[in-house]
Amino acid sequence: MEHNFYLSLLLLFVSSISLSLFFLFYKHRSPFTTRPNLPPGTIGYPMIGETLEFLSTGWKGHPEKFILDRMIKYSSELFKTSLLGEPTIVFCGASCNKFLFTNENKLVQSWWPDNVNKVFPTSLQTSSKEESKKMRKLLPQFLKPEALQRYVSVMDTIAQRHFAYFWENKTEVTVYPLAKRYTFLLACRLFMSIDDESHVAKFAEPFHLLAGGIISFPIDFPGTPFNKAIKAANFIRKELLGIIRQRKVDLAEGKASPTQDILSHMLLTCNEDGQYMNELDIADKILGLLIGGHDTASAACTFIVKYLAELPHIYDMVYQEQMEIANSKSAGELLNWNDINKMKYSWNVACEVMRLAPPLQGGFREVMNDFIFNGYSIPKGWKLYWSACYTHKNQEYFPEPEKFDPTRFEGNGPTPYTFVPFGGGPRMCPGKEYARLEILVFMHNLVKRFKWEKLIPDEKIVVNPLPTPAKNLPIRLLPHKA
Ligand code: HEM
Repeated sequence: MEHNFYLSLLLLFVSSISLSLFFLFYKHRSPFTTRPNLPPGTIGYPMIGETLEFLSTGWKGHPEKFILDRMIKYSSELFKTSLLGEPTIVFCGASCNKFLFTNENKLVQSWWPDNVNKVFPTSLQTSSKEESKKMRKLLPQFLKPEALQRYVSVMDTIAQRHFAYFWENKTEVTVYPLAKRYTFLLACRLFMSIDDESHVAKFAEPFHLLAGGIISFPIDFPGTPFNKAIKAANFIRKELLGIIRQRKVDLAEGKASPTQDILSHMLLTCNEDGQYMNELDIADKILGLLIGGHDTASAACTFIVKYLAELPHIYDMVYQEQMEIANSKSAGELLNWNDINKMKYSWNVACEVMRLAPPLQGGFREVMNDFIFNGYSIPKGWKLYWSACYTHKNQEYFPEPEKFDPTRFEGNGPTPYTFVPFGGGPRMCPGKEYARLEILVFMHNLVKRFKWEKLIPDEKIVVNPLPTPAKNLPIRLLPHKA
């Protein structure tokens, strides 16, 4: 329904401005037509390029189809197109991923769609590129192994509370909103020391709107996903500012500790020029972390529940592994780092889930200087797109790609650059280990308590931009007999 409305709006938008865009169109086309030796492909319609096809294959649940169709038509390694208003070359497969990930800051650099700059206009008037560099500098302190080890017991405490409150004594639940609640509460607790459910619940809807608008057409008109995302970001930023100001007071009065979480760390860390980050800047950083860090992991948790419902023999193996760990603990003892390291089969299952349903479908880079790749010219300023969803479904790397088979991750696992849910190279997701912990703690607490079955056996999958079951995965819970 929302898509139909949105499509009509888009058509109206395109037709009403097409005349005035005539000259712009030629300007837009010129880099495509005048440069020799570009990769094969088509730029699609003026301004919107092939964005609609790119997004709509996701809405239909098969984001990799956009790439597969064009690989058959043009080239099996790279093709040109135009996405989100930018001339783009799509890099297909492991050797292209390797090239892209190993040439970070040499030939290519990070690039986020313009939407990201508009939804997160930074208080410092710098680009998302600069901001993400700063973010990467701040994170190691917070995501280093010693810190992560400490989080396991906190995650287990929050998971136990979450399951007791939202799952136990229920016969049916809807998984996706609950998974989001779990990962979001964890993020609020570990990033900002907030664990009051009612405080956290206020953010749920705005975050949903924000995620939906980041990869969408940048049409800022009442009712569009982009417009809703901007409003949601403003709402959340205001709430975060309140939290930041309170923390400043608490730190000054000795009621909060300088090392208790990433918020204190940001407030008390200077940059190279000896300056502290301002409040708005901190709010934007926390907002970015909350977005990057909770929706992705909740999509992974949701798909784990889906696949374990569909594959009872896999469920049984996960159950066996988790119960061995549960039975080795004394009453009330929380999970620890050693327990997490024993969850090898469960993590292989989670990886196979992220192979089939990667939370992020891929990512963009910007070309820093002209270069030649596989005999084709790659011009400065163009955008490159790498695709996890396409790479993961390639039968050359994953025989019978649609088959769920966690043994693919045994031993040395998949060949490098073929399994890329977290990206690769210097820009690989800095939250990868944190995500592994929260996902495994979720699996432990879930299978220990329940078996379950899907209430909609053939529920469709929608990718917009994260994968989600169309009805949010309602299930019937079957608690284990005491
Ligand atoms: C299953 C969960 C997750 C998945 C699948 C995932 C995936 C990714 C991917 C694909 C990228 C882009 C890499 C690239 O462009 O090459 C990324 C970036 C990022 N992720 Fe994650 N992520 C997850 C969880 C997290 C968590 C829990 C955090 C925070 C604690 C986090 C923080 C970030 C940040 C800050 C970036 C941007 C890094 C930069 O700009 O250099 N992610 N993630």
